[in-house]
Amino acid sequence: MAVASDVKTKPATRVAAGGTNWIVPAKVAVFLGGLYPLARIVLLGFTGGLGANPIEFITRSTGLWTLVFLCITLAVTPVRRLTGLNALLRFRRMLGLFAFFYVVLHFTTYVWFDKWFDVFAMLKDIVKRPFILVGFSAFVLLIPLAVTSPKAMVRKLGRRWQTLHKLIYPIAVLAILHFWWMKAGKHDLILPKIYGSIVVVLLAWRVIVWLRSRMMQASSG
Ligand code: HEM
Repeated sequence: MAVASDVKTKPATRVAAGGTNWIVPAKVAVFLGGLYPLARIVLLGFTGGLGANPIEFITRSTGLWTLVFLCITLAVTPVRRLTGLNALLRFRRMLGLFAFFYVVLHFTTYVWFDKWFDVFAMLKDIVKRPFILVGFSAFVLLIPLAVTSPKAMVRKLGRRWQTLHKLIYPIAVLAILHFWWMKAGKHDLILPKIYGSIVVVLLAWRVIVWLRSRMMQASSG
């Protein structure tokens, strides 16, 4: 997955001038880093470290890591623009796919190990805890982004790809709403406030860039 505004640039050509030797090891490092949350769960699972309620631990851990990878993916464009490090674009698809990977684990843990595919139990839970439906909406919206993330799809869809990948913005908002709503029930809003602020800053940056480009277009036209 990538963020729509950057598909116009050609990362491969831009980076080539500055040398690309470090990109492959860096990609391996990012990949291994992306597997860390899963490795941690597996390790804790084998050493009895998942606490009294392992399903709850795994649901919460995978949910939080989904949010972390969503935020990092959204941060790539602003950081790239502010630092001029165009090579960062080469990592964005992998980061976005890690967000998807962890939400699939999050969803699977809930549907399989928490509810044992019992649709009635899930519906009852959703009525009691509507924040689950908000998370589910974010998950459904992430699916087309993951499916269209291969380079061949980017080429095939052209401008429609950019439009489709703007879905990442409502997804981020829904993810925060899901987290906030869940934690509001427990009167523990510290983390939702931190992640909410990060998402607000990342989205506000885009609005400002967009407004500035509109103003420049208006003044030059
Ligand atoms: C992009 C999509 C999603 C994101 C970013 C996300 C994120 C999160 C986060 C951060 C938490 C709280 C973790 C904590 O307590 O520290 C959470 C909890 C939870 N999520 Fe999600 N979630 C998403 C989608 C879903 C989906 C699709 C489902 C199920 C259909 C779901 C079900 C739950 C449940 C049941 C909890 C509460 C677990 C508990 O009470 O112990 N989420 N999610």
